[in-house]
Amino acid sequence: AAAGTGGTVTADKTLALLLKGYAWLPGLRRDHPGDGPLRTRLMGRPVRVLHGPEAVAFFYDERHARRHGALPGPVLDTLFGRGAVHTLDGTDHRARKTLFLERLTEPAAVGALAERVREEFRAVVGGRRGQEVHLFDEAALVLARAVSDWAGLPGGDRAATDRLARDCVAMVDGFATPGPRHLRARRARARQEELLSRAVIQARESGAAAADTPFGAVLSHREADGSLLDPHTAAVELLNIVRPTVAIAWFTAFAAHAMSRRPDVRRRLAQEGDRGAYAVSFAHEVRRFYPFVPFLGALAPDGLVLDGERLPHGTMLLLDVFGQNHDPELWEEPYRFDPERFLRAAPHRDDLIPQGGGPREGHRCPGEDVTVAVLSVLARELARLDFAVPDQDLRIPLNRIPTRPRSGVRLVVGA
Ligand code: HEM
Repeated sequence: AAAGTGGTVTADKTLALLLKGYAWLPGLRRDHPGDGPLRTRLMGRPVRVLHGPEAVAFFYDERHARRHGALPGPVLDTLFGRGAVHTLDGTDHRARKTLFLERLTEPAAVGALAERVREEFRAVVGGRRGQEVHLFDEAALVLARAVSDWAGLPGGDRAATDRLARDCVAMVDGFATPGPRHLRARRARARQEELLSRAVIQARESGAAAADTPFGAVLSHREADGSLLDPHTAAVELLNIVRPTVAIAWFTAFAAHAMSRRPDVRRRLAQEGDRGAYAVSFAHEVRRFYPFVPFLGALAPDGLVLDGERLPHGTMLLLDVFGQNHDPELWEEPYRFDPERFLRAAPHRDDLIPQGGGPREGHRCPGEDVTVAVLSVLARELARLDFAVPDQDLRIPLNRIPTRPRSGVRLVVGA
């Protein structure tokens, strides 16, 4: 590599990504060392890989990264939905983003959702004494029930809510892989967009939705040009609240994995009161340590200069999320699971980026408060629960995106 630039990898790495998963970018960085952004190619495009807090600030400066047209169709048709907030830029994005920020960063609203999760979790586990619980699957149901109710989604019965849970899991599980998982993800999204679009139309006709719920807010939200969301886009954004909340099931399985490996951590969680800081630090450490989001992408506008280089037309910028969360320059002993690191110091805005970086008004995840609050509640509940972890395959394969402990974490609840 030339001085001052990162290593250069010429061949298109699409296949390597599919095969190597989370290890792809960190592996490239290791094999092609250098200071500046690493160069490679993905899906036929030139790519520059960004890494480190300064690069995060660069990536989240909206003059440097366009989201419109950045995400491939297969990702939109499974994970996010066409027309989602993720794909907007500038004033359109800012107007749409208020819809999420107003609800999801309000402490009382966040607390109310976490409380519902606690109640649903106790109801499920309370009924299963002496039995085996598949934690990942049950957590998805618990989270879907809690968030549907909290968001004021119109009265699906239990079966409809459980289907919503399974569909949300399918949307996340199948976004990055060709084959049957991907087809399941597409069908799941199509089904839920259809159901929610109809619910939006009906609620608008009847005027029945409670205005102070997220559902009511989506119905009456105004875009930058003053228009209401069309029913399909409204459905897409409702799913952008429900689906990632259900996705906290991944972190729940990881939390149980951490407790099974570290009885000391579990004991400390169990001993702490309901408002203690340790569970919050634990939630941050689960988000940092375990692999969930591999990297994020955006398009460089024409003429963008990065590290002295004028980027070629159509360059894709990738932010190496997994790599940054394990960078020894940012984290002491990055491969040690250590919640105390966040008791010593709260996370910096652009250091800990499992849910994106930069200011909240940008594309950073508006659901971080919800994630941390819900995960701390579930961590305490789990730690206090009398459970055993029977023999099972808890390995977390890094070549699968998204990954999780292979068994989904089976627990036997004490009688
Ligand atoms: C955006 C991760 C939970 C709603 C994002 C982004 C990431 C992320 C990486 C993209 C940032 C970017 O494009 O630069 C996660 C993870 C979660 C989670 C790992 C844990 C399960 C949530 C929750 C909600 C939520 C609970 C809502 C209740 C959103 C929305 C966006 C977003 C609406 C789009 C923001 C924008 O483009 O302006 N999330 N998230 N997420 N997340 Fe989350």
